[in-house]
Amino acid sequence: MTENLTIVDHPLIQHKLTILRNKDTPTAHFRQVIREVAILLGCEATKDLPLGNIEIETPLEAIKSPYLEGKKLCFVSILRAGNGLLDGLLDLIPSARVGHVGMYRDHETLEAHRYYFKTPDDLGGRQVIMVDPMLATGNTAIAAATELKNAGASALKFMCLVAAPEGVRAFNAAHPDVPIITAALDRELNDRGYILPGLGDAGDRIYGTK
Ligand code: URA
Repeated sequence: MTENLTIVDHPLIQHKLTILRNKDTPTAHFRQVIREVAILLGCEATKDLPLGNIEIETPLEAIKSPYLEGKKLCFVSILRAGNGLLDGLLDLIPSARVGHVGMYRDHETLEAHRYYFKTPDDLGGRQVIMVDPMLATGNTAIAAATELKNAGASALKFMCLVAAPEGVRAFNAAHPDVPIITAALDRELNDRGYILPGLGDAGDRIYGTK
């Protein structure tokens, strides 16, 4: 199966990802840098937004100039680590609507359970970009994408920071129509469901918990 996966190989992204992977990066710096990476990944995730032309006047003359048209955006953060990426995406497109999906991972079974779901009610008319920094087993992302489709989402993408091959395979199998955009495809999962080499628990790194 051809993977529906884009690895965004940009020097700035790879440089910033190294900072995020470093266990000695302090919380405030981690939070700032993940926000910056989200802006860079967000450019890739939105690169096919349709443009029309509008008429404007520059200080010198009237022109027709490109302007976003068509589907409006909705970013959906998978709580809580998704919020680290969400902040950067909203820097990029402040007018986007925002949804939140709360999924928790059962640490024994690694299965995902929904505890919160709030999105705009016109999801079907929007390009929906779901965000979570880590695509590990894929269980959480698969469940969240299913919930979003059940709520009407038809144009859906998934943006993450680091993906494991196991998660990509599982997500592509469950949602072959949903492109994955990531900064890195790492080696493997360990027996606790953490990505290797990864960056640790993204939520803990963003919020300084543990
Ligand atoms: N979630 C994380 O935050 N990190 C991992 O490595 C895997 C899942």
